[in-house]
Amino acid sequence: MMALGWSVTFLGVCLTAGQVTGDDELAAYHKLRSSFLQKEDMLMNGASLRLNKVEEEFDRWLTSTVGSLIQQYKKERLQERFVPATYFPKVRSHIENTTLYKVLRKMPKGGALHIHFSSATSLEWIVDKGLLLPGCHVYWPAGSPPSAASPKVPKGALAFFNASQAVPDGYLPASQLLQKPGFQAELLKLLTVQPEDEQLTSAEIWAKFADVFVRTGHFFTNTAAVQQYLRATLEDFLADGVSHVEFRIDLFHDQAHLYDLDGREHRGVDKVDVYSRIVSEMQKSAPHLTAKMIASSFRMRPPEDMEKDLTYAFEVKKQRPDFIVGWDAPGEEDIGRPTLEYAAQLLRVQNLSKAYGVDMPLMLHDGESDWSTLNTVDAVLLGAKRIGHGFNILSHPLLMEEVRKRGVAMEVCPISNQVLRYLTDLRIHPGARMIENGLPVTLSSDDPGIWGARGLSHDFWEATVAWQLNTRTLKALARNSLEYSGLTGAEKEGALRNWEKDWDHFMATWKSLVSDEHQVYV
Ligand SMILES: *[C@@H]1O[C@H](CO)[C@@H](O)[C@H](O)[C@H]1NC(C)=O
Ligand SMILES: *[C@@H]1O[C@H](CO)[C@@H](O)[C@H](O)[C@H]1NC(C)=O
Ligand SMILES: *[C@@H]1O[C@H](CO)[C@@H](O)[C@H](O)[C@H]1NC(C)=O
Ligand SMILES: [Zn+2]
Repeated sequence: MMALGWSVTFLGVCLTAGQVTGDDELAAYHKLRSSFLQKEDMLMNGASLRLNKVEEEFDRWLTSTVGSLIQQYKKERLQERFVPATYFPKVRSHIENTTLYKVLRKMPKGGALHIHFSSATSLEWIVDKGLLLPGCHVYWPAGSPPSAASPKVPKGALAFFNASQAVPDGYLPASQLLQKPGFQAELLKLLTVQPEDEQLTSAEIWAKFADVFVRTGHFFTNTAAVQQYLRATLEDFLADGVSHVEFRIDLFHDQAHLYDLDGREHRGVDKVDVYSRIVSEMQKSAPHLTAKMIASSFRMRPPEDMEKDLTYAFEVKKQRPDFIVGWDAPGEEDIGRPTLEYAAQLLRVQNLSKAYGVDMPLMLHDGESDWSTLNTVDAVLLGAKRIGHGFNILSHPLLMEEVRKRGVAMEVCPISNQVLRYLTDLRIHPGARMIENGLPVTLSSDDPGIWGARGLSHDFWEATVAWQLNTRTLKALARNSLEYSGLTGAEKEGALRNWEKDWDHFMATWKSLVSDEHQVYV
C-alpha cells in the first residue's frame, strides 16, 4: 500500500488517496468515473426525458441488439469495414434485413423536416408509374450519347408533351420506350446513386446529382405527375412511421410552375394549392397526417433575384400562411454564393414580416461543407430558426451555445452527408457530437429517393448503430421533429398528442416484431 497523499474534487466527488488501501482507491475511482459519465450524460439532448417501465424494457432490447450488431460487425465484417462506415448504397439491403430496421420502421418518428420534394420517395416510382402518365416523354437519343448540339439535355431527361405540341428531337413517348427490354433499369440507373459512385469525389457526385435534378425537373412541372408523386411520397412516409413532412419546393424559377397537359398553368398560390389539396384529400383517410412547404429559392441566384424571390414568398405566404412554413435557398454550398452575400436580404425579413403580417422562419441550408464553416455562423447570426445540415458547427463553440440557448433546430441528414461524400464513417458524424452537447437535433433524409432510402428509417438505423443511441435519445429526436416543425400552435399540440399515443402503442407492441430475440439479421 502506498500513501499517495493526493486529493481531488472533481464534479462534486472528492477523491482522497491518503490512508486508503488499493481496493478503496479503485472503488473510489469507479465512483468518480460513473459520476463523471452520468454528469456528462445529463448534457445530452433528451437527457431530461424519463422512461417508463415499458420503455426501459425496450431500451434493454435496443442496447443489447445494437451491441450484438456491433460485435458481429467487428467480428465478421472488419475487412469490409463497419456497416455505418460503408457507402450506404452498398449496405442498404443488408440494413433492411435486420430486425432493428423492422423495429425502427414501426417506431413513430414524428416529422421529416428536411426533404426535397422531387427526391422524396424512391425514383423507382417514376420508372414504374410516372412513365405511364399521359404525355410522358423521355430524352433517349438513338445510338451515340447526347450530341454536342444539345449538351444541356442529359439522356433520360423526362418531359410532357400533348398531342398538338411539336416534340423536340430525341424525345420519345415513354409508352414506346417501355417496349424496349432493359429501358426501365437503364433509366433508373440514370436517376439514382449506385454503389460504384463511392469512387466519386464530393464535387463529382454533386454533378451527377445535379443531372438527376435536370432529368426530373420537367417531370415535376406536370400537375398530374406532382399530384400522384406527392400521394405516393406521403404514403411512403406514413408507412415508415412518419406523420409529418416538410417539403422544400421551388416556387420561383420560371421552370418551377405547374402545367396541365392542356397547357393550363399553376403558379404561386395556385401551385401551392395543388399540393395542399392532395394533403387535405389524404387526411380523410389518414387524419394524423400533416405536410407543409418550405419556399425554396436557390443559392446560385444573385442577391437581387433572391430579394425578388423573398418578397414573392411573402406574398404567397400571406395568402397561405399555414401551408408555407419557412424560407430556404438550397444548393451545393461549396460552389454557391456565401450566405453573407444575402445578408442584406435576410436582414430585411423582419421588416417584410411586419409589412406582410406573417412570419417567415429561416430554415437555411448551411454548414453542408468541409471547406468553410462561415455560412453556419451567418445562418445562426442572421436569425435562422433551423439549420439544414450545419454539420460543421462543431468548429464554433460559441455558436453551439447560441443554438442551444435559442433552440435552433439542427436538421441532421447522416446518409445524405455520406452519399455526397462529406464523410465516410458515420461514427464520426458531427450529429452525434451535437446530441452529446445538448443541441436540439432532428434527423432527416434529404433526398432519400436518389439513394433508395425510404422515409426516415434508414437514417435512424445508421444513427442508432453508429452513435449507439438509447431510447431517450430516439424519443428526443422524434419529439424534436414535431417541436421544431413549422406546425402552428394547435396543430403542433395535436401532432404531439397523436405522436405520444402512437409511441405508447409502439411500446406496447414492438415485441411482436421481434420473433427471435437473438436474431440480429437474416
Ligand atoms: C437478406 O436476406 C435474404 C434472406 O431472407 C438473403 O437471401 C439476402 O442475401 C440478404 N441480403 C443481404 C444483403 O444481406
Ligand atoms: C397542348 O399544349 C399547348 C401549350 O402547352 C396548348 O396551347 C394546347 O392547347 C394543348 N393541346 C391540347 C390538345 O391539349
Ligand atoms: C427596417 O425598417 C426600419 C424602420 O422602417 C428601417 O429603419 C430599417 O432600415 C429597415 N431595415 C432593413 C434591413 O431594411
Ligand atoms: Zn437538403
